[in-house]
Amino acid sequence: MQKIMTIFGTRPEAIKMAPVIKAIDANPDTTPIVVLTGQHKEMLQQVLDIFDIHPDADLKVMARQQTLSQITSKVILGLDPVLDEHRPDLVLVHGDTTTTMAAGLSAFYHQIPVGHVEAGLRTWDKYSPYPEEMNRMLTDDIADLYFAPTQLSKDNLLQEHHPESRIFITGNTAIDALKYTVHADYHHPVLEAIPQGHKFILLTMHRRENQGQAMRNTFTAIRNVVLATPDLDVIYPVHLSPRVQQVAHEIFDDVEGVHLIEPLDVTDFHGLASQSYFIMTDSGGVQEEAPSLNKPVLVLRDSTERPEGVTAGTLKVIGTETEAVRNAMTELLNDQREYRAMSTAVNPYGDGHAAERIVAICRDYISGKLRHPGM
Ligand code: UD1
Ligand code: UDP
Repeated sequence: MQKIMTIFGTRPEAIKMAPVIKAIDANPDTTPIVVLTGQHKEMLQQVLDIFDIHPDADLKVMARQQTLSQITSKVILGLDPVLDEHRPDLVLVHGDTTTTMAAGLSAFYHQIPVGHVEAGLRTWDKYSPYPEEMNRMLTDDIADLYFAPTQLSKDNLLQEHHPESRIFITGNTAIDALKYTVHADYHHPVLEAIPQGHKFILLTMHRRENQGQAMRNTFTAIRNVVLATPDLDVIYPVHLSPRVQQVAHEIFDDVEGVHLIEPLDVTDFHGLASQSYFIMTDSGGVQEEAPSLNKPVLVLRDSTERPEGVTAGTLKVIGTETEAVRNAMTELLNDQREYRAMSTAVNPYGDGHAAERIVAICRDYISGKLRHPGM
């Protein structure tokens, strides 16, 4: 039996690795070993509960407001005995967090091959998003197998001279995850606080490069638009980072139409997203999910590594200046033609079978049978 170890530590990695773990488990030739770094705690546990995932090891590295160096060094040191004990045939990491990069490096130090799920996303600006752009570039330097969600991410990898024979376009496992979470008859108690006839926007914002002034500017714009629009509410599940919590409460606590709630489990998040009028976010994963949910997204960043969603018409990158955010919100609230165009785009991130493809490729790689299928 081939042993495939998945290592992850934050909410989005868990959501997008969950379908891969299920597919490893379902394949008769492979068995999953699930290792958590515990970079997140409550927000990670929510995902494990929803997908019924039981970890084999947990490094529990989370501490309030720790530095990137602390996370990195704790993960690398913590993985030494875990990798020694299990000796997997292959390690899979996902995306671009500090867990991703440190776990990839750790596996390399143990001379265990590394597969990078969601490889090849780029903005080509090492501080945007920070530190994720560098994390994913370093992970791609370490990796032996590249699971690129789209042709564009494959092209990015080729531009950096990664070997074509090791790059596979699989689609994004975020779309696979939606099959487990989206239900038509969804209800959440926060909806009872929204008056009949009101629209609501679903908001998330957490990125490090946005913490501080960019977040203040954005929240001020949203506050002003809500105060000026009688039938508009905002639901904001606030990330548990103290740097985010503090600014969110400072700017929104006295605004009746803004509902600050705890981070939602992913079923609730997708349920509320499906019922929202539109979404405002700086999240990466949410940009991938929105086209499948038929929701326009105003992206609260200066650049995106997911331009496929912009091309498809679902995403609009609006930055974080107060005036720009206000104008973009007002336009989308008032311009029905723009709204319709943004909510009817076609999902460019795959067919929901990425995880099965990834596991089939891993199996062939481990058994030495890998031939490039030219996908
Ligand atoms: C991390 C990732 C980011 C990803 C995000 C997803 C890095 C550097 N950043 O950012 O790429 O987009 O996760 O959400 O890898 N906290 C809790 N409980 C939790 C989770 C977080 O209390 O379950 C608090 C802790 O005080 C923690 C802080 O949030 O120190 C920040 O967490 P951290 O993992 O350092 O960064 P994120 O901003 O979550
Ligand atoms: N999400 C969630 N609950 C929330 C907010 C987001 O389950 O309250 C999900 C969302 O559907 C997406 C993922 O978390 O799948 C995105 O995670 P996050 O925004 O934390 O990280 P990023 O994708 O930016 O790295």
